[in-house]
Amino acid sequence: MGRGKRRASFSNPNFDSEFDRIVRDVIKEIVPTEQEVSMGQKAKDELERRVKEILRDYPELEYRFLGSFPRNTWIKGNLEIDLFILFPEKKEERDLERIGLEIGRRILDETEERYAAHPYIHGKIMDVEVDVVPCYALKSAEKIKSAVDRTPFHHDWVKDRIKGKEDDIRLLKAFLKASDIYGAEYKIRGFSGYLCELLILHYGSFRDLIKKACSWKRGLVIDVAKGEEHYGGDAPLFIVDPVDSKRNVAANLSLDSMAKFVEKCRDFYLEPSKGFFKKKEPVKVSGENLKEELKKRGSKILAVIFDRPDIVEDNLYTQLERAKTKLFEFLEENDFMPLNAAYFVSQKKCVLVFETQVKEISKVKKVLGPPFEEWEHVKRFREKKRLYKPFIEGGRYYAFDVRKITKPGEAIQEYIRTNPKALGKNISEIIASYTLLEDEEILSLDFDGFFAFLAEFFKLREVEG
Ligand code: UTP
Ligand code: MN
Ligand code: MN
Ligand code: MN
Repeated sequence: MGRGKRRASFSNPNFDSEFDRIVRDVIKEIVPTEQEVSMGQKAKDELERRVKEILRDYPELEYRFLGSFPRNTWIKGNLEIDLFILFPEKKEERDLERIGLEIGRRILDETEERYAAHPYIHGKIMDVEVDVVPCYALKSAEKIKSAVDRTPFHHDWVKDRIKGKEDDIRLLKAFLKASDIYGAEYKIRGFSGYLCELLILHYGSFRDLIKKACSWKRGLVIDVAKGEEHYGGDAPLFIVDPVDSKRNVAANLSLDSMAKFVEKCRDFYLEPSKGFFKKKEPVKVSGENLKEELKKRGSKILAVIFDRPDIVEDNLYTQLERAKTKLFEFLEENDFMPLNAAYFVSQKKCVLVFETQVKEISKVKKVLGPPFEEWEHVKRFREKKRLYKPFIEGGRYYAFDVRKITKPGEAIQEYIRTNPKALGKNISEIIASYTLLEDEEILSLDFDGFFAFLAEFFKLREVEG
């Protein structure tokens, strides 16, 4: 089993036996202990007692336990109960939200408001995490008012079908979690719990999913209810929702998360190991290491630091993504040749980081004019007021012009000053008082995990031994 030989090939005749050996151990680590199960059961009983009592004040409402707890598909250590409060269709959305939150706050301890399709309450009961989510009780999943209204239909569709496959679902969730692609939220843009269940149902087992996904291509469409798949979808991956055939269960999965999953499947298939189910320790780097790396790279590093707006995560990450892209494009337009851009979020602050290949550029630049044949265009180009005269080269006109911005840091300042609105609503309101740090100055930022983030930003390899 020479490592080199393995690497070069695209098949592994020993996969099945290696898989069995590894998975046997992994399962022991991801199946909840009896103690955790009974802790969940007790919390559920208490939750049920409290919700029944409260619902006496709201006779038109019902409740249901949904998600991974009743389906027995949560991973050890991730116990969380999802309690849905079902409202009649005729109820105003405002009332659903108001009453839903009120019930959540009355039932749970240590509550906080979160947001999915509607606001909902996250909290605890007897030290167990709970989500209390309001939704509409509808007759068909095709006529839903908001995304959470499909959840009861999802539950009914998968509940009996996944019996006996719970551990396969847990293996998949753990595999995805280890690679940071479990969860449909914008920050992750990965695989939701329900999507995991459907993939296991479609391929039959975690083992077969791994083998098949090694050759997935973008545009794959899987119709789980019909047991069919084909290519030609617009989304990276389209998983037809068995309860609503127009809906893509993988709608939030990004192309890059899909590609990352395929990479992990291939690596695991060729060299199965328990490591694929454990989150990698972040790369350990010191300020000294990073300082050396900055010197070695010879690039320009810029960091924009501002207060974290007090908004829900999905919204924050959407705006950060937008701000990152806008500033990156502006650096590109101004010839600073950006290499990379990313954001880091701490409790109180956001940091946008950019790396450019150009640290400073000349005052003078060359602008492209029309080919000589186009008299009309040529006339306009030659008449334009410039410090330097236009000239002909290779049959077309050019001119030297003067740049206003010659440093990437100036580009960032200029963009934030003139286009704050383009950076996203809440960011634009807060970014006016930002700090701009350059090069080694960024190493003075001591946010938890910031150096590991920079190691990832620079794509540093793990130092071995
Ligand atoms: P969870 O995120 O709790 O997932 O959503 P899960 O399936 O229980 O898996 P675990 O907890 O990670 O093991 C529970 C249900 O609530 C709905 C989904 O339909 C999901 O099936 N939900 C949850 C949403 O629609 N939107 C959300 O933002 C969160
Ligand atoms: Mn859950
Ligand atoms: Mn969850
Ligand atoms: Mn939940």
